[in-house]
Amino acid sequence: MSGEGIGLAVIGCGTVGRIRAVLAREHPAVDWIGLCDIDADVAKSLGEDVEADLVTTDLDELLGRPEVTAVIIATAENEHVTPILSAVELGKPQKKLSLFIEKPLATDPVDSASVLEAIEAAGIDAVMGYTQRFRRRFQTVKQRLRDGQIGEVTSVVTRAFMNRMVPDATLRKTSERSNLTPMVVSGTHSLDMCMWLMEPREPVEVYARSIDTTLGEMGTKDATFGLFTMDDGVIWSMNISWALPTVWPGAVYGLEIGIVGTRGVIDIEDTHRDVVLATQIPQPAGYTSKGYEPDSQRYVDFLGSYPPGDVSDGLLWGPMREETMTWFNHLSNGIATPHATARDGHRNLILTMAMDLSARTGRPVELPIAPQALI
Ligand SMILES: NC(=O)c1ccc[n+]([C@@H]2O[C@H](COP(=O)([O-])OP(=O)(O)OC[C@H]3O[C@@H](n4cnc5c(N)ncnc54)[C@H](O)[C@@H]3O)[C@@H](O)[C@H]2O)c1
Repeated sequence: MSGEGIGLAVIGCGTVGRIRAVLAREHPAVDWIGLCDIDADVAKSLGEDVEADLVTTDLDELLGRPEVTAVIIATAENEHVTPILSAVELGKPQKKLSLFIEKPLATDPVDSASVLEAIEAAGIDAVMGYTQRFRRRFQTVKQRLRDGQIGEVTSVVTRAFMNRMVPDATLRKTSERSNLTPMVVSGTHSLDMCMWLMEPREPVEVYARSIDTTLGEMGTKDATFGLFTMDDGVIWSMNISWALPTVWPGAVYGLEIGIVGTRGVIDIEDTHRDVVLATQIPQPAGYTSKGYEPDSQRYVDFLGSYPPGDVSDGLLWGPMREETMTWFNHLSNGIATPHATARDGHRNLILTMAMDLSARTGRPVELPIAPQALI
């Protein structure tokens, strides 16, 4: 029974819900854990591993428990809206309820706007899982930019490379694939990073192009390259390809960001080529999800390129630990954190979809844009 501590509900017990629930079990402030997944076996197995206080397939049963003070929503991309709105309803009278929502806030822009409105109207403290903000390298870059160390920023270039394990694993979960584009699902991480680094600038226009030669038949794009203009004239080139062959050694994400200013430059090499494994023994998939097997065996790996972190001796080390534990610290001590807010998450969805709209129509898109105009 929860006293002053955190009573945690985890909704969605797959790859990410599991990582966060296991970390919750380590945190001294978490004194109650309830789990919900529509897949009873997945929920049960995690329940055994974290000695959960409640395991259910019924969302309302979990959210109805008086112990719940914090909710992690880690369901599949298209399945965030119902649990968020149910949790918001629960939080209204209680006020102290806090939410941690995996990206994207929603996959429909109008839903995303309604979800944001509901969260803000209820005064709920809601953060989003933009995990890479919690890495030391990006924190120091952010501070140098705050300090004005490179003068006035004039231009930013971003390149994200991923092999096709994430689209393969993600799209097979659903037939509703039209909004599961490289930008909405994965480019959102590097877009969030760059928007955060460029704060408080807002984009006023985006122009983008996509190609779908490899993944078109699966219902998504291979790559989307875009050019944003910001409200102070800064130009930002935001590019992602998630169609690299499965044998590409980056387990999930390889990123390069160049930030040019009037008096300096920051060049971030985040492709993880600094620690390379090469082996004759096939290794496990870089990205795992229940029932997913990559289409070919992988013998080379850029170690450290799995975005949540890496498991060693049963414990996860890396940014998802920092991110999750910092949230529990925030809940128990009230300390400020660099988490993305639900408002940031909504903005990120709108910007990723504006890139997709521009690529679809072949025209520049003026920003801000109403969610309805993106459908
Ligand atoms: N922060 C990060 O770095 C990061 C990394 C990977 C994934 N993600 C995000 O985390 C979320 C989950 O991804 P994942 O890789 O864990 O997926 P997953 O498929 O491994 O797990 C999703 C789980 O949600 C369950 N589920 C689906 N609909 C549900 C519902 N209505 N109610 C309860 N449970 C439901 C599924 O049965 C599954 O067990 C996604 O939004 C994804 O984009 C974030």
